[in-house]
Amino acid sequence: MNLPESLSVRGGHLYCGDADCVVLAERYGTPLYITNENHITGNFRRYEAALKKYTGKVQLLYAAKANENPVIIRSLAREGAGADVFSLGEMRAALEAGIPAGILLFNGSSKTQEDLRAAIEKGIMISVDSIDELRQIDAISKELKKTVRIGFRVNPAIEVPTHPKIATGIKNSKFGIPAEMILDAYREALKMEYVIPVGMHCHIGSQILEIPPFAIACGVIMKVADEVTKIGVKLEFIDFGGGLGIPYHREGTVDKAPTPEEYAAAVMPVFLEGCKKAGISPAFWVEPGRWMVGESTILLTKVNSVKKVHKTFVNVDAGFNLLIRPAMYDSWHEVVVANKADQPADGTYTVTGPICETGDIFAADRRLPAVEAGDLIAVLDAGAYGYAMSSQYNSRPRCPEVLVNGGKAELMRRAETYEDMTACVVIPSWHRK
Ligand code: LLP
Repeated sequence: MNLPESLSVRGGHLYCGDADCVVLAERYGTPLYITNENHITGNFRRYEAALKKYTGKVQLLYAAKANENPVIIRSLAREGAGADVFSLGEMRAALEAGIPAGILLFNGSSKTQEDLRAAIEKGIMISVDSIDELRQIDAISKELKKTVRIGFRVNPAIEVPTHPKIATGIKNSKFGIPAEMILDAYREALKMEYVIPVGMHCHIGSQILEIPPFAIACGVIMKVADEVTKIGVKLEFIDFGGGLGIPYHREGTVDKAPTPEEYAAAVMPVFLEGCKKAGISPAFWVEPGRWMVGESTILLTKVNSVKKVHKTFVNVDAGFNLLIRPAMYDSWHEVVVANKADQPADGTYTVTGPICETGDIFAADRRLPAVEAGDLIAVLDAGAYGYAMSSQYNSRPRCPEVLVNGGKAELMRRAETYEDMTACVVIPSWHRK
């Protein structure tokens, strides 16, 4: 199997960086998320270098939703990352990780008044998703007598080859303002006292394994940028969102995942040509999430039992409460027997979790070495939208997360306890007898 760079096999064991996953399982128990920090910082540097080959005015905004662990955000902040934040929680995490307010973009199609007020007070830029939202921002900024820098999220109406639930720039998406309505939006913003339109934003979707849609979207956006420049908007940045996919299929027909270098080679010339045509020089912003963190992490889970019936089920101790992607999007994640990583396949197994739902399957009909109770299964590529989308469904406390840096390995989040899970429960008076 083509393992991600964050992993290797040594003496039959799966290693994350220089840490033996079997040893980590003994030390911290299972289930366990294990993340290779150097892989993430290496990804950041590579992505940034690929773009900076074309222009110095580049800013990467890490899409915090992909993996919101504050330690990961801190790690990327140290590299110079900004952040795309989608909630007050993500905003706070990014600020506490040391990301300057000027390179945070507050995104989202449904923000509360409280959200908007907090962003304005903290001097954080807002990607505005509707005219209604713009007017609310106007009112709050007047009340606070505080300027607010904004961009509009443009819907470029692009079809992208990905799961329909994560294609965000299609014509009938809930996100963004259609290109044909965008001039009116900027015109209205230009008239506002405290609102300064300085940017433009788009995001066409996630887990995109082809490059052309990014270049097409860039072309659409640059045309809009030209039009808004003509009505007097001074664009300081254009943010092209995230979306670069990773190769989840690593065996058999391996996914051909695009690289940041290929992305830059296709998109940057369109961007620079568009800038030249419009006579502008905004910074190029991009918001990768999955590409930064996806391949850095495994979810390690122990086999409780093996059941041979109409097929062979491997019942593990992690469920879709910890990694919902296979259940939610039918996503493919490779699985490796971490303590038998050099043994040949001997049978076909279906790896299932303990949740009381038929859909609690991580991997169906996979060829694996002889699996038995006590073995460790690593679910690969679990760093993006893994822990971040976890829950306590079935009253299962979330598992810990370990961060590996070379040979060092320490907790970056402890396991939840029953008390953590019930900490917010309040007993109504008539039950307190
Ligand atoms: N920017 C915006 C405005 C976004 O909505 C997203 C992701 C990103 C950037 C980062 O996209 P990425 O580089 O990670 O593709 N839970 C789904 C993915 C949802 C993506 C939501 N938006 C999954 O597990 O596949």
